[in-house]
Amino acid sequence: MRTLLDAHGDALGHGAAAGPTVVKVNRDELTGLADAAGTDAGALVRGWLAAGSEAVIVTDGAAPTRVDTASARYTVESPRVPTRSAVGSGDAFAAGLVRSLLTDPAGGWPAHLRLAAACGASNAASVLARLAAEHPPSALIDRVVVRTEAGR
Ligand SMILES: Nc1ncnc2c1ncn2[C@@H]1O[C@H](COP(=O)(O)OP(=O)(O)OP(=O)(O)O)[C@@H](O)[C@H]1O
Ligand SMILES: [Mg+2]
Repeated sequence: MRTLLDAHGDALGHGAAAGPTVVKVNRDELTGLADAAGTDAGALVRGWLAAGSEAVIVTDGAAPTRVDTASARYTVESPRVPTRSAVGSGDAFAAGLVRSLLTDPAGGWPAHLRLAAACGASNAASVLARLAAEHPPSALIDRVVVRTEAGR
């Protein structure tokens, strides 16, 4: 079974140790756990990959998303949108990621991350926690920039 963990605090620490397929956190959740555990964020990420996760994704609002896998590191730049409320953008990002993983399993991380970021940005352009009808993911996805640093 493939799993995605989006949590903070103790639930994040204990859940990530179980090796979910994907760990998706925001920067505050990662640094919060690192501070509480007396370690640094990089060590946590490396530990989660060693525990079996295929990808550790750290979102940071409109700033670039950092993604680590066993073989590569990615930076994801979201398209600029008129931001109305980013509440729920993490959930929209996770939903887009899962959709891509399920419908295009061979697509690769850059493709999965493109749909995820397009969904997160679309949600940010909506006052309510939902995709913005005037800025749908399909209109944003080609403006997502994914940079790959191979051989980590
Ligand atoms: N203002 C924005 N403009 C464009 N894209 C955004 C913006 N805010 C968020 N996003 C997109 O949504 C993704 C997730 O956002 P964020 O880091 O705020 O998640 P989060 O803190 O988990 O949110 P929440 O817990 O409220 O669902 C970002 O990586 C980015 O792709
Ligand atoms: Mg979140």
